[in-house]
Amino acid sequence: MDTEQQLQHRRKRKRGVVKHFHISSRSLFLCFSFFIFLLFLSNYHGFFTHKPPLSSSTLSLLYSSASLSILDDPLQSTAAKVSSTTLSLSLQHQILFPNHYLIILNNEKLQTHEVECVYYTLNGSSSGSAKPVLSMDYYDESRSVARCPFPETNDSTSGGFKVVDLRRFGEVGRRNLSVLRKQPPQSWDRVAYEAMLDGDTVVVFVKGLNLRPHKISDPTNFRCHFGLRSFHKDGVGASFLLSTKAVSVAQEIVRCVLPLSIRNKPEKARGVRVTVSNLSGNLRRQVRTLLPSVARVGSGRSVEKRSSEKYELCVCTMVWNQASALREWIMYHSWLGVERWFIYDNNSDDGIENVVNDLDSKGFNVSRKVWPWIKTQEAGFSHCALRAREDCKWVGFFDVDEFFYFPNEVRRHNEPGESSSTSSSTSTSVPGEKSLRSVVANFSSSTTIAEIRTACHSFGPSGLTSHPKQGVTIGYTCRLASPERHKSIVRPDLLDASLLNVVHHFQLKEGFESYNMPEHSVIVNHYKYQVWESFKAKFFRRVATYVVDWQQDQNKGSKDRAPGLGTEAIEPDNWRLRFCEVKDTGLKDYVLSHFADPATGSMPWEKH
Ligand SMILES: *[C@@H]1O[C@H](CO)[C@@H](O)[C@H](O)[C@H]1NC(C)=O
Ligand SMILES: *[C@@H]1O[C@H](CO)[C@@H](O)[C@H](O)[C@H]1NC(C)=O
Ligand SMILES: *[C@@H]1O[C@H](CO)[C@@H](O)[C@H](O)[C@H]1NC(C)=O
Ligand SMILES: *[C@@H]1O[C@H](CO)[C@@H](O)[C@H](O)[C@H]1NC(C)=O
Ligand SMILES: *[C@@H]1O[C@H](CO)[C@@H](O)[C@H](O)[C@H]1NC(C)=O
Ligand SMILES: *[C@@H]1O[C@H](CO)[C@@H](O)[C@H](O)[C@H]1NC(C)=O
Ligand SMILES: *[C@@H]1O[C@H](CO)[C@@H](O)[C@H](O)[C@H]1NC(C)=O
Repeated sequence: MDTEQQLQHRRKRKRGVVKHFHISSRSLFLCFSFFIFLLFLSNYHGFFTHKPPLSSSTLSLLYSSASLSILDDPLQSTAAKVSSTTLSLSLQHQILFPNHYLIILNNEKLQTHEVECVYYTLNGSSSGSAKPVLSMDYYDESRSVARCPFPETNDSTSGGFKVVDLRRFGEVGRRNLSVLRKQPPQSWDRVAYEAMLDGDTVVVFVKGLNLRPHKISDPTNFRCHFGLRSFHKDGVGASFLLSTKAVSVAQEIVRCVLPLSIRNKPEKARGVRVTVSNLSGNLRRQVRTLLPSVARVGSGRSVEKRSSEKYELCVCTMVWNQASALREWIMYHSWLGVERWFIYDNNSDDGIENVVNDLDSKGFNVSRKVWPWIKTQEAGFSHCALRAREDCKWVGFFDVDEFFYFPNEVRRHNEPGESSSTSSSTSTSVPGEKSLRSVVANFSSSTTIAEIRTACHSFGPSGLTSHPKQGVTIGYTCRLASPERHKSIVRPDLLDASLLNVVHHFQLKEGFESYNMPEHSVIVNHYKYQVWESFKAKFFRRVATYVVDWQQDQNKGSKDRAPGLGTEAIEPDNWRLRFCEVKDTGLKDYVLSHFADPATGSMPWEKH
């Protein structure tokens, strides 16, 4: 049964009813009923237009206890009721991560130091121990997220399972425990965690689909389900009443058409709860199971909508505690022509916010997106590609230790007589400036190229033993001979609907292909194996990203591991001399000649 058809059908019937009133009733009554009708149409649309026949499958769908618990925001409504006597923060959801709780709450302008986590034993005897939050962040227009550490002790004698709550410092009292008990945290293994509007469709990000990796899956058995905001107040109809079919499914992403009722008014979709379901079982008894969800439909647009021309070139990246690398990376690439930066921050606690704000205030157009969803790099890139599409013709996906380098520009620079003959289409006075933007702009009118690939050279520690103060481009000058991998810059409007991407490469729309830049014209310097201090941190990051448990010798052959490093984070012999086959000072010379302060020799990204 197609709910959209039913919906239209019922809508027609309702129009009939109104007509009937028109003929038989007095005008006052007509006005009144028409008003009611409008009210239903605007607020309670789903309820009256769509009542799915409760087949056994929809029954299990609506009444499975796992999904019921996520329907009606009891935490929120309770908070509202009891706020005068107890806690003022209004919680929406909790998610249990491997080493912390994530709490989603209504937007409050709160700083990390203003909030604490409180833990209760559930049989109600304790008054609750407290700990400071790990972080407190703005998430989107209507929500914030806080991360709470696990409670100190987990002794089963004190009542077993503990619940966590949030309160402002200094606040006393507590929430009704019987309500908290009914809302145990969602498991991060299986949950719809984010959703975005994209034209006539909604893109839902889901953990736990267990789809074939790196492949587009068959969407037939999947649907999206929409919960109407106005319903959770009474709790009764607080369910996902509208559902639509999926049009594409891959990795962690399910894309569905929007219900008709919100398609024409996308702003009505904002904040609507959404989840996905999968049909399984055999032909005789099919079961549709809804996944738990903390997702609400957010807009696909970035905060400041661009009225003017799109940016030619933007960059998306995901970071975790790499704040110190940002300045050099952003300042250098902005000079090469990157105009807008989307930094997806995965739970950093190294003051990245200050670095981002500082760069942004200097005109680099940098924004930080809080992305608390661990091990979701591909999904994060898909999310960023969607966000960037409104504003950018091209989006690059590369890491903060990767630097584009144009060997020819160096040659030109070193031969001053030649500099005026720069063939670049832009009228820049300095050779090399905006050269990355020129490369992509050259393909902007192409009808076949949607991705530009650039090969990477992997640099080693280059004999250093401590982090180069002037920057990685100056410090690291020895690398492996042959290039590894490719980095891609894509046209976000020409990506496949599935948003499928594997190691930074997106599936392109039918009929489009990628272009490999010749290595002699542009290459990426990847400062992959830095001094041990830096590499060790990266090693843990990588390992956490790709390997289930890094201490179990898994993925030993993976490219993300340093050859010969094994699974121990102990400095190998002669680390500083490794990965050094070719001396390559090209980018160093170039950067020094363009960026170094003539008087002091210091680089603009060095901290003063
Ligand atoms: C506490 O202990 C229980 C049972 O021993 C275990 O299932 C649970 O995961 C533990 N919780 C934490 C936060 O460590
Ligand atoms: C809570 O549980 C503990 C251990 O199970 C028990 O000793 C204690 O009496 C309980 N308190 C209440 C108020 O039920
Ligand atoms: C807590 O909520 C339950 C219903 O969920 C209610 O029966 C109980 O009276 C409430 N307790 C307090 C102290 O408000
Ligand atoms: C969806 O259902 C199919 C059976 O129809 C099952 O094999 C598959 O594992 C299910 N996928 C998810 C994500 O639950
Ligand atoms: C930042 O964006 C503005 C327009 O919004 C643009 O004029 C400016 O050049 C951008 N900054 C950089 C460093 O590209
Ligand atoms: C533009 O791209 C073409 C390949 O399609 C290439 O031959 C040409 O050199 C490029 N021009 C510039 C200025 O990069
Ligand atoms: C994000 O950070 C967490 C640690 O908070 C780490 O375990 C995870 O692997 C990181 N994920 C990505 C994609 O960087």
